[in-house]
Amino acid sequence: MQINANSLSLQAVNFQKMKVFATKIALKNVIAQKKQEGSLLGFVPTMGALHKGHLSLIQNALKENDSVVVSIFVNPTQFNNTLDLEHYPRTLEADIDKLKTLSPSKIVVYAPNVNDIYEGAVSKEHFDFEGLEYQMEGKFRPGHFDGVGTVVQRLFEIVQPHNAYFGEKDFQQLAVIKKLVSIKKLSVKIIGCPIAREQNGLAMSSRNVRLTEEEQKHAAMIYRVLQTAKEKFGTEQATKIKEWVVHQFENNSILTLEYFEISNESTLEPMQKKQKNTKYRAFIAAYIRDVRLIDNIALN
Ligand code: PAJ
Repeated sequence: MQINANSLSLQAVNFQKMKVFATKIALKNVIAQKKQEGSLLGFVPTMGALHKGHLSLIQNALKENDSVVVSIFVNPTQFNNTLDLEHYPRTLEADIDKLKTLSPSKIVVYAPNVNDIYEGAVSKEHFDFEGLEYQMEGKFRPGHFDGVGTVVQRLFEIVQPHNAYFGEKDFQQLAVIKKLVSIKKLSVKIIGCPIAREQNGLAMSSRNVRLTEEEQKHAAMIYRVLQTAKEKFGTEQATKIKEWVVHQFENNSILTLEYFEISNESTLEPMQKKQKNTKYRAFIAAYIRDVRLIDNIALN
């Protein structure tokens, strides 16, 4: 059966007991009912093309809540590259099949179209995330976190979850969302979840399907470099580690490094001098052709 967000009616479409909604009006009715029954509500926002990384977030949410809303929405305002937005995989039917393998009766899917979220005005709010938004991803994808903040704030307003789950794969996004919740005084608990990886270490990502098998093998270097950076962190200075990482990428004809940073886990500012009782993380963004990959690792 062919489905897309537009073809879903106002009423819930039942896929083996799993409810799938295309509009916030219909979704809100079910949520209100569940809340009236005293259900604890979890929420996992996604852009679809679901993989095991997404599913691990949903499994965590299922363990800790009575019902879980999964949103599937490719948010145009967080893309600063139109080609990336155009090429972003859209696989709603396969996504629904994957969700059905979990706990279909506890999952509610919200797969809106752009109008249901943006109501005719596709624009983003400007946020002050106290500097988090200007590091790393923010430098290379200007305005990206305004787009993420805009859509996540809207989704929180619609779903009104008790708990919301985000992956450490997008560690900076997780930090930004926690900041959004504290700035806007939202009553949702943000839960960070570990990075799910392929067997070769490559962090799972919806963009990985755009890589050939050969390219996926090369992409595993990203995690290997992060692991070695972690080993080096005990004894070497950050500048030396950075030089070593840059050199690894210079020697690789498939991968192009965009940035490597060793940063304070709370402020996301680049580490100057190692401080006691401070957590640090290494972050990488790299390209294979036009496919952008990111990853990170805790260093201490
Ligand atoms: P998307 O890239 O689809 O990711 C949805 C959630 O899955 C995010 O919290 C992301 O960090 C998490 N995730 C992705 N890959 C993961 C992996 N390998 N291991 C663990 N978690 C992983 O992130 C977004 O969508 C969007 O920015 C969104 C928050 C939905 C707003 O549009």
